[in-house]
Amino acid sequence: VLSSREVGARTGLSQQSADRRLLALEAGGWIVRRMAARRQQLTLTDKASARLRAEHAAYRRLFEGPASVRFRGQVRSGLGEGRYYLSLPGYASQFRERLGYDPFPGTLNIGLAPDALGLLGGARSWNGVRIDGFEASGRTFGGATCFTAKVNGRACHAIVPDRTHHQDVVELIAAEKLRDRLHLADGDTVAIELTES
Ligand code: CDP
Repeated sequence: VLSSREVGARTGLSQQSADRRLLALEAGGWIVRRMAARRQQLTLTDKASARLRAEHAAYRRLFEGPASVRFRGQVRSGLGEGRYYLSLPGYASQFRERLGYDPFPGTLNIGLAPDALGLLGGARSWNGVRIDGFEASGRTFGGATCFTAKVNGRACHAIVPDRTHHQDVVELIAAEKLRDRLHLADGDTVAIELTES
């Protein structure tokens, strides 16, 4: 909650310039303003938070090098959707081109505890390998971002769909069938490491 004068004082602008700046930020969808008597309540929008996170990530990368996060999760079964999606030519060709391998058709689902969810949330603003959405047989298939990862030390990618209902799951893809390679069964705990590319 600030007056335009206070915003000006904090940003080195006159009150008039601060006013104009706030108007422009509001028009651009960066802040929401609720006017009170002399002061106003200023709230950053989700768009603004996302931009700040991305900027923070960019500086961190420049000054500290690629980031990585480690967490644990539990192997889970899904509904067999991974197999279907990864077999679609529209996705398969992009995996081959952009990840450099043909993934085993499926995703290994790892259920996450709340603390791991927080770590994964931060990684969402990282640069990853983009997989574009496309249309086929009258349907729209969404895009996703892939992040370099390891599960119990084996190389894989975490794939994060642009739109997902499963916030508490990370889906892994790899050239090999990870369950066989790592002898995994539902409920097993695994160590995941995500690295920024
Ligand atoms: O049934 P669910 O949705 O979990 O499976 P899917 O995505 O259709 O994948 C088929 C099976 O392969 C599942 O048991 C996955 O956990 C497993 N999988 C794997 O072990 N390694 C991969 N790289 C991908 C999938």
